[in-house]
Amino acid sequence: MKRREFIRLTGLGTLGLLFSGCGNFGDQAVSSAVAAETAGAAAEGAKEKKILVAFFSRKGDNYEVGYIEKGNTHILADMIAEEIPGADVFEIKTVKEYAADYRACTEEAKAEKAQDARPQLATKITNFQDYDIVFLGYPIWWSDLPMPVYTFMESYDWQGKKVIPFCTSAGDVMTGLEDRVIPRYAKGAQVKLPGLGLSGKRVQQDTESIRPQVKKWLNELGMAGSK
Ligand SMILES: Cc1cc2nc3c(=O)[nH]c(=O)nc-3n(C[C@H](O)[C@H](O)[C@H](O)COP(=O)(O)O)c2cc1C
Repeated sequence: MKRREFIRLTGLGTLGLLFSGCGNFGDQAVSSAVAAETAGAAAEGAKEKKILVAFFSRKGDNYEVGYIEKGNTHILADMIAEEIPGADVFEIKTVKEYAADYRACTEEAKAEKAQDARPQLATKITNFQDYDIVFLGYPIWWSDLPMPVYTFMESYDWQGKKVIPFCTSAGDVMTGLEDRVIPRYAKGAQVKLPGLGLSGKRVQQDTESIRPQVKKWLNELGMAGSK
């Protein structure tokens, strides 16, 4: 299925603004829009820092991958954690699960975004204050972060924490909103870029092909372990 078809199938084409964040929904990384602090600045020695990889991801039927048992972002999150010795992993889960059916889910997500909803979360981090660096992962939903990720950001005190975003979507892109959205809702957080935006299909179907890219990215951030 072509990316353009994603727009047609989900009725997104009429909403020009939907993809305003990620340009043409293509392969260009737009995280340059977030030209905040880049790699070197983040290289502060991950070794003595406590690191969390927190992510939201959805299994079920999804764009270009059919029915999946493990979400694309979940796979990427696990790989990131594998490459950072000592990193903890946390899954952001909602009380009410999203529809397993892809189209139904896009409708649910569309309604939530229109309402600026804050879906209730089923999982909570009890020792959030212990973490120095949080890798925050999500699928792009309607050119934005999924609403549960907003609930997650608003649920904690982010003072003094660094947040490094990563996501999966139809292309190798990020939303382009990360530098504005994350500090606004994760109050006190400092966003570290570049983030990592990868095609969910590639992550799902050709998983090991992304490992070198993940390692390179972590190296550039100064976060890579000894593996
Ligand atoms: C509700 C919904 C909205 C989506 N909106 C977009 C979008 O705006 N842009 C895009 O590139 N992909 C979009 N996608 C595709 C997902 O970002 C992509 O399939 C992602 O890899 C899913 O990750 P997950 O398996 O971790 O949930 C959307 C998918 C869903 C279910």
